[in-house]
Amino acid sequence: MCGIVGYTGTQAAAPVLLSGLSKLEYRGYDSAGIAVLNEGKIGLAKVKGKIANLMELTDSGKNVPGFAGIGHTRWATHGAPTDVNAHPHISSDGRFAIVHNGIIENFAVLRDELTAKGYEFLSDTDTEVVAHLIEMYYTGNFKAAVMKAVSRLEGSYALGIVCTDEPETVFAVREKSPLILGAGIGENFFASDVTALVAYTKNAIYLEDGEFAEVKPDGITVYDAAGREITKPISRITWDIEAAEKGGYDHFMLKEIMEQPRAVQATIDPRIKNGRIHLDDFEMDSAEFKNINKIVITACGSASYAGQAGRYAIEKLCRIPVTVELASELRYADPLIDEHTLLIVLSQSGETADTIAAMKECKERGARVLSIVNVVGSTIARLSDDTLYTWAGPEIAVATTKGYTTQLILLYLFAIYAADKLGRIDSAEYDRLLSEIRKIPNLLQRTIDMNHDVPALAKKYYTHNDVYFIGRNTDYAACMEGALKLKEISYVHAEAYAAGELKHGTIALIETGTPVVALCLNEALAEKTMSNIIEVKARGAEVIALAFKGNTEIIKKADDIVYIPRTEPLFADVLAVLPLQLFAYYVAKERGCDIDKPKNLAKSVTVE
Ligand code: G6P
Repeated sequence: MCGIVGYTGTQAAAPVLLSGLSKLEYRGYDSAGIAVLNEGKIGLAKVKGKIANLMELTDSGKNVPGFAGIGHTRWATHGAPTDVNAHPHISSDGRFAIVHNGIIENFAVLRDELTAKGYEFLSDTDTEVVAHLIEMYYTGNFKAAVMKAVSRLEGSYALGIVCTDEPETVFAVREKSPLILGAGIGENFFASDVTALVAYTKNAIYLEDGEFAEVKPDGITVYDAAGREITKPISRITWDIEAAEKGGYDHFMLKEIMEQPRAVQATIDPRIKNGRIHLDDFEMDSAEFKNINKIVITACGSASYAGQAGRYAIEKLCRIPVTVELASELRYADPLIDEHTLLIVLSQSGETADTIAAMKECKERGARVLSIVNVVGSTIARLSDDTLYTWAGPEIAVATTKGYTTQLILLYLFAIYAADKLGRIDSAEYDRLLSEIRKIPNLLQRTIDMNHDVPALAKKYYTHNDVYFIGRNTDYAACMEGALKLKEISYVHAEAYAAGELKHGTIALIETGTPVVALCLNEALAEKTMSNIIEVKARGAEVIALAFKGNTEIIKKADDIVYIPRTEPLFADVLAVLPLQLFAYYVAKERGCDIDKPKNLAKSVTVE
């Protein structure tokens, strides 16, 4: 979704802003712009489409001179993606330029008020009201005008603001939308996430909701919502710029798929010490676990599918009821949640608006909140009682891959940890499961090595417009993620069905040649799934089966077979999903899709 950058220092601002924006491209956007202060005026450039258009328009920033400015990638909410609606927006008097991420919910009322006072609106955006409001309240004090304007706003907003009267200052404001300050030497920055900062500085300051900052070349002053100066800790960004670059791969998505053995290893390593699971600072003793009568997992998109896969492991090992609730539904469901509920929140970005809202709703009802998050210092991490970081490194492709698998690993570790505390597994089983977890990074690598044929498989099937994924239990959970991957990056209609549910409707859609991906990893239910394979084949389907290496039965039934190495069946999804990710990737490639930035999608959905 929208991305913001800000810079003030000794370098020409525009190239720094453009480079920062290019690092935020992955969040999803449809237009971009920059505003730079120069000789008492604001140099403005904004254009529909890609950053490349903005680079061309500005001659790589050369024709927007100056040393302080703001930049934006816009993912349209209010108003179509046009040059005019692109940010920055300028106040009527030309004194202020602003960029905004989020939604100003009361913009219509403010717009009417400002229109009645004679302010003329050029765009259809909710954002433009902020520029005019600041102008209205300005009497020579930039900070005071920003505070007054912000006090009128309802909704979510990260703002970057410049004023021609203060040529070295950029203001950053945060309310329910991510914004991180970067502290340099003789120059300072802000951005929606650290990927835009890491090429320049590794010192980050995380703003809380309601806080704002006056950023100048020689220092950053942070204020609370009441305008009082506050001291903020500086956090060290732990990864470097290479982690946010493609490193020889055609796409970030492929790089991130291939990184999974390493990413999963990084998730596991700090959690196993002397043969025991340590979940960082999360501690629940047996009595506390026994006081929990259900676990609710909430998330959006792929994270919710990781939750579905994790649910099977937790229920099986802990014998506690687990439900997986889509955050966008849970937040309005008047949920039956109290102090006997453990809420597990899954989010790669830690900034998904629906997930944050659902979590707040459950917290207010007394649930203890454990989050599993990739982005350090993100909103969900900060609002949870406990956070387990996945340590997957930056995930740039919009479609998550290593974010999903590392979430799964933490859910598996949690399941074993909780089962032990509840006395539901003995020490031999604990040790066995843990040793299976330790093998997963190597098995992921073997899964990659065993699947060189996936591009050929994609070539065979990429022209089909409907693909069905079927499986039971844990296999069904992986089907959901496999189908979503295909949908989101290749625009192929793909649906996941619990295999037993097929004959209640979906089988009517199977025609000669319809591809059906059948997951047969859950061997306890293999025979049942085999029957479903026979049923769809009888109606003309082409079956691509996913099975453990050594499953020879499947050869007789399927048209194509994808093998993964054998693992503990409860943990099979973490391996199963990898060839499904590759299948989606290569189908999208055959179809000529923009794999890392699929149309209409955003990496981090920070609005409802
Ligand atoms: C967006 C992304 C998905 C992601 C979902 C949840 O829709 O495109 O890939 O699964 O958000 O994101 P989160 O950051 O909360 O895991």
